[in-house]
Amino acid sequence: MNPLEGKKLIVAVTGGVAAYKAAELVRLLGKAGADVHVVLTRGGARFVTAVTFQALSGNPVWEDLWDARMPNNMAHIDLSRDADAIVIAPASADVIAKLVHGLADDLLTTMCLARDCPLLVAPAMNRQMWEHPATRRNVACLNADGAVVLGPDAGEQACGETGLGRLLEPEALCEQVIGFFAPKLLAGRKVVLTAGPTFEAIDPVRGITNISSGKMGYALALACARAGAQVELVSGPTGLAAPAGVHRTAVNSALQMRDAVLAVLPGTDVFVGVAAVADYAPASVAEHKIKKTQGEMVVTLTPNPDIIAEVAARDDAPFCVGFAAESQDLDRYAEGKRQAKKLQLVVGNLVQDGMGRDDNQIILYDAAGRHPLPRAHKSVLAQLIVEHFASLLAAYLEARTGV
Ligand code: CTP
Repeated sequence: MNPLEGKKLIVAVTGGVAAYKAAELVRLLGKAGADVHVVLTRGGARFVTAVTFQALSGNPVWEDLWDARMPNNMAHIDLSRDADAIVIAPASADVIAKLVHGLADDLLTTMCLARDCPLLVAPAMNRQMWEHPATRRNVACLNADGAVVLGPDAGEQACGETGLGRLLEPEALCEQVIGFFAPKLLAGRKVVLTAGPTFEAIDPVRGITNISSGKMGYALALACARAGAQVELVSGPTGLAAPAGVHRTAVNSALQMRDAVLAVLPGTDVFVGVAAVADYAPASVAEHKIKKTQGEMVVTLTPNPDIIAEVAARDDAPFCVGFAAESQDLDRYAEGKRQAKKLQLVVGNLVQDGMGRDDNQIILYDAAGRHPLPRAHKSVLAQLIVEHFASLLAAYLEARTGV
């Protein structure tokens, strides 16, 4: 299910201080399901030892073109033949120059020249080296040759200078590798999502909210980005970091959420309402902190707008995916919401099965009926939900434009 499940990756580590980040990258790629094999150049081995990579990858590390462990002495061919990609991280200015010129004077460069799999290159070097016209030419050439260049990042460098040239952080690199393998089911599409709870203020320090963690909405936003969509995430307060490749707008109240959604809605192909939007908000917000001396307190609540129903009622409505978290009678309520709010798809679950947890048990409801999915981690479910609506999307958009 994870795009890296069952993939064989060669991670090549060249000489640079950032080589220490490659250790974490190897661990993360392995955790994401990849079978990782490390190639270490002589320069790389000056910074991190083969023992570290062997322990983290669970596989032997390759350093020498003439390694006798390879029965036919052809490590440069055999290593990459059944590999799904070679990832060079960090890639020094020197190795980039060699790749561009087709040099083959060590295991890594020979393997790259002899490969028949994609090449992903994550540069790391001093900012002056990165900006040098020779490096600029080489990177342009690398791109033109079909390699995928990941980063670099800007920021503080090991040499004390600040600028472009830092290796991407391991988490971001891992995400880019996963994204590379994810099927681009939503390429060219724009997706807007709401996620998390809303917070409806009563006074400057208090308010009404709920226990939504935002995990499902954030997992879906990431799955949409991996699938190639332009993603706008409008999020209520959560402790979660914005997923890679996703633009996030942070809001508190349902009214703010609605305004933020309407602001990014033009050109949207899919709207996904994952947020647990408060149905009611205090009719007025006290300017100052309410004191308990006033005895019994009554808060008058007024209904909030139904964001997804408003989006689905538009003439140019995107494909709308709603969520229904119910405590009973799931089929009736979820399908009822789908029809009442004019949604194309509803993701239903029982609150006791998923709220606040990392996994969930869900059922998809669309015009064709109900589709139960197996209990799974929310990131896996996010991928399945994307696959489901992506398969219905083209027909919906064609009917909308009357094509
Ligand atoms: N939703 C929304 N705006 C609201 C309330 C809900 O956009 N003001 C969206 C949610 O994001 C979700 C769907 O509507 O996709 C269903 O939300 P839910 O809270 O389950 O339904 P309600 O319509 O609020 O009905 P009830 O609370 O009575 O179950």
